[in-house]
This record gives sequence, C-alpha cells and structure tokens, in this order.
Amino acid sequence: MLTVRAPATSANLGSGFDVFGIALDRPADVIRVERAPETTITVTGVGSQYIPEDPAKNTVGAVADALDAPAHIEIDKGVRPSSGLGSSAASAAGAAVALNELYDRGRSREELVPIAAEGEEVVSGIAHADNVAPALLGGFTIVAGGEVVRVDASLPIVACLPEASVSTRDAREVVPRSAPIEDVVETVGHASTLAVGMTRDDPKLVGRGMDGGIVTPERVALIEGYGDAREAALDAGATGVTVSGAGPTLLAVCREGNRRSVAGAMLDAFDARGVESRAYQTAIGEGARLY
Ligand code: HSE
Repeated sequence: MLTVRAPATSANLGSGFDVFGIALDRPADVIRVERAPETTITVTGVGSQYIPEDPAKNTVGAVADALDAPAHIEIDKGVRPSSGLGSSAASAAGAAVALNELYDRGRSREELVPIAAEGEEVVSGIAHADNVAPALLGGFTIVAGGEVVRVDASLPIVACLPEASVSTRDAREVVPRSAPIEDVVETVGHASTLAVGMTRDDPKLVGRGMDGGIVTPERVALIEGYGDAREAALDAGATGVTVSGAGPTLLAVCREGNRRSVAGAMLDAFDARGVESRAYQTAIGEGARLY
C-alpha cells in the first residue's frame, strides 16, 4: 500500500481568477492506494458524508481511469469539501501521485496536472487546473495557455473557514461574463504586482496584488460576515485578504509573527456575527508528498 499526503490549496488570490494558486502547509488529505482488479473508493474524515464513493462520481475515479490504474483508494479527508481550499484537487492530486507510483507510469508532476484536472471536471464541470497545479507542484503556480509556471514561494498565511458551504458550481454562476476595460487594466496591474511579490516572498506586494479582481466582489456576497472578518484581519496586520477559490474560506497573507493575531481577529469577527469558523495558521508549502 502506498500513502501520499496532498495539501490544501488556494486558487485565484483575488486578481488571478482561474490562473493563480498556492499550496498550503495544512490542512491536507491522506490518500492510500493498493492495486485491485477494478477501482473502489472509501472516504473518511472531514465532510466525508458528502463525498460519493462511486468511482464514476468521485474525483479520484477519473484519475484512476486516465492513468489506467485500477486500485482500491482510501481517501482520508483533512480538507473539507466546499470550503474553497481545493478539497477535490487535493484528493485528485494525491491519487495521481500515488497511482503513478503504484503502476510505475513514469509521469512527471507537470504531466500529472491535466490528469488530476480531469478529476476536477467530475466535481465542478470544468477541468480547471489552478488547484491541482499547486497541489502537485507546491509553491505558487500560474496556469496560463495550458502551461504551468511554478515559483518557489514562502509566506505566512491564515485561512479562515466559516461554517458554511459554497459549491464551486454555484460560485461560478456569479462570475461576470464581461468586464469594463478599466477593471481589466486594474486587475492586470494587481496580478503583476502579486506575481513579482511571490518571487520576492514580499507579503506587502502579494497582499496589495490580491485587491479587487473582477470576480471576487461578486462572490463576497455569498459569504456572510466576509466584510467584518476582512477588516479585522487587516487591522490585525494582514497585508491582504481575499476569497480563497470559490469560498467561503478567507485567505489572509501575513507577516512573520502575526498569524496568531490575524487568526484570532478573524475568528472573533465571525463570532460577533454568530457565524462559527475555524482558522488554519499555515504557509505556502510543498506539493503532494509520498510517505
Ligand atoms: N478558479 C476556480 C474558481 C477555483 O474560482 O471557480 C475553484 O476552486
């Protein structure tokens, strides 16, 4: 039996809708695989009751098919589904790494990106790679024109998850179909600032580069308490706050040493609105890892 730890990820980062992603140190899924005549799946852990074990409906079933690698696959969820933390991507990326090794398929991490993205299609209806790319490669990733650019990056992060679910399908319904040129220009400016910030591990540039975006303002309406929690995090010293992926998790970029106060401020802000939440004090981290 082979075991892989596959990390949570955060996509979009405000200005990079469907393009930017980061791997997070925690939380993570653990995937175990062993050869079998046909694929079967068991799911345990956080939110497992919402995840189908039928291989035709589970993100990892598509991955096993694509790699022609039938197996019994055990998924121990650490990344809650519908959290905006790349839950399905963690499982898909973990399964891709594990099955590639189990069957000695010899695919590189880059080659596994489109394979894991097929698993994403099962869940969200679109094979977007902005979560599976960082889940496989780690660091900060840019998915553009079918290619992935990876940047080593390391920044302290708080991911605050309110007790609500937002499905990626629903969150994609509110994405504007077009945008004024002024908004496009502003977003390109922010995205460029963020990308440079990542190459320098500069929390100020990254935080500033997460501002605005064409999609985020539409999505915050789906998250009760977003405005208060964002303000609280910024007051506590976060350099930028945005919606993580499709939400409802809020992603706050921090400086060395202020994660605890940022996490506390966000939890208190949600609590004051009567919304339960939990905060992960985490960091930009590595991709899926074989034990
Ligand atoms: N880029 C995707 C979206 C990520 O925001 O819809 C979903 O996790």
